[in-house]
Amino acid sequence: MASIRVVSAEDLDAILRIENQSFPSPWSRFEFKFYLQEFPDSFFVYTKDTTLIGYIVASIHQETSPYPIGRVDSIAVAPPFRRQGVGRQLMKRLLSALREKGCREVLLVVRISNHVAREFYRSFYFQVKSQLSGYYDGEDGVVMALELER
Ligand SMILES: CC(C)(COP(=O)(O)OP(=O)(O)OC[C@H]1O[C@@H](n2cnc3c(N)ncnc32)[C@H](O)[C@@H]1OP(=O)(O)O)[C@@H](O)C(=O)NCCC(=O)NCCS
Repeated sequence: MASIRVVSAEDLDAILRIENQSFPSPWSRFEFKFYLQEFPDSFFVYTKDTTLIGYIVASIHQETSPYPIGRVDSIAVAPPFRRQGVGRQLMKRLLSALREKGCREVLLVVRISNHVAREFYRSFYFQVKSQLSGYYDGEDGVVMALELER
């Protein structure tokens, strides 16, 4: 049976395995622990028959705006389970949590070469806002944004 729930400390080993299979510069355990501690309500995992097969994590910021802004900081699905709607369900769950927290906008940065992720975000109607030169070890990042309906 599949389900989505908020993360717990016991999930970190499985998350790190997926992370290492998914990114050229994977996050360390330290970074995930930071999000677990600071943003536990916007960090979700997808499990299938008790196996963790995907995660999504966001931070919430209110420094430059009168209302909170969500930022999707990472999402990954284990390679054998991609293109089966897991990422879509994780993103839907996160967007509804961010809306509940009063966010009216969600931002993210994605590698310019990551066409799959850019298409994934585009399918949620995220729009390209700007490009950050050399943001990822010399590779440009694309800033995308989504306005949340209230
Ligand atoms: C990006 C990622 C999380 C998507 O997760 P997923 O579970 O495979 O995505 P879904 O099956 O929910 O797909 C949702 C939509 O995204 C788009 N999409 C997903 N994979 C795609 C692919 N390989 N090619 C083109 N579009 C794709 C499609 O619009 C898809 O809808 P559809 O299947 O109805 O056409 C996954 O590919 C992944 O883990 N990639 C490696 C990590 C990564 O790059 N993360 C993003 C960092 S910014």
